[in-house]
Amino acid sequence: MLNYKKLGFVNTKKMYTEALKKNYALPGYNFNNMEQLQAILSACLQTQNSVVLQVSKKAYEYMEENLIYHLVQGAIATMKSQAKKMKLKPIEVALHLDHGDSYELCVSAIKNGFSSVMIDGSHLSYKENIKLTKKVVDFAHKYNVTVEGELGVLAGVEDYVSAENQVYTRPEDVKDFVGKTGVDSLAIAIGTSHGAYKFKPGQQPKIRLDILREIEKKLKNFPIVMHGSSSIPKEAVNKINKYGGKMEHAVGIDPKQLCEAVKTPVCKVNIDSDSRMTMTAGIRESLAKNPENFDPRGYMGFAREALVEMYKKKNIEVLGCGK
Ligand code: G3H
Ligand code: 13P
Ligand code: ZN
Repeated sequence: MLNYKKLGFVNTKKMYTEALKKNYALPGYNFNNMEQLQAILSACLQTQNSVVLQVSKKAYEYMEENLIYHLVQGAIATMKSQAKKMKLKPIEVALHLDHGDSYELCVSAIKNGFSSVMIDGSHLSYKENIKLTKKVVDFAHKYNVTVEGELGVLAGVEDYVSAENQVYTRPEDVKDFVGKTGVDSLAIAIGTSHGAYKFKPGQQPKIRLDILREIEKKLKNFPIVMHGSSSIPKEAVNKINKYGGKMEHAVGIDPKQLCEAVKTPVCKVNIDSDSRMTMTAGIRESLAKNPENFDPRGYMGFAREALVEMYKKKNIEVLGCGK
């Protein structure tokens, strides 16, 4: 059993309390490799906000459980020395399992140094969701690991998370769910969706802020999480298509609606697709412009710089947590 504090990570408690007080949201950025991880920490250091580093089940398998905490520990050490050089305050970092789908996976992540886990029982019946979530909370809290649960189902497809139709979170359930499970934060479904094709062409994308406000009244100052919140920037879509990719009709959440949402108790906003797209656009552009290059450091380094800029902009302009 690894102790996440000794590895230099924190759980989400203090950072969410701060976010609730100051009416901003923190980023929940997913990563799958070294360049994404470096870009996230470098951007968040520069904008001076805490960050929740997220690893999905697929990413947990891709990077391998034993490598992840070493990578993050190393990236934090680099961030701290950068902070010293730049005369900035080092930032706080939580290592979070995203969309954990079983008790066993959550336990494995906790044993491997994760400071926070999500148990996603949203596809189960209400009763089964409570039972599974509570079981994870009971284990996690013994080690001071924070737990995110989910109520309601987001539409969209991911490797391990997929749903045809979305089911909005019922405000009348949230207090009971939080009380019975003991979760530290709650992911809700209010119209966002996973992936790069969030809405059909011609559809008017809208986040149900009215449902969010009802939830806020029922839970009062309790950390809420929004998944599926990438904006799918037009520039990235166009660049991917221009340099040989094929992403037709990719569309995301209107950043203006996200700006409204983060003024409520929404403490974390999950972003993965924007990062994937910015990285892919950067790699495609670099390869197209430098056809003779076969050194991954060339195109990966170029994409990493683009990622840093994207994250900084998001922290400042959308989430409101960055300076
Ligand atoms: O919702 C979270 C991520 O987008 C998960 O994607 O399962 O392909 O890593 P992944
Ligand atoms: P996006 O696909 O909108 O980036 O959502 C990511 C997410 O919710 C990770 O849990
Ligand atoms: Zn998600």
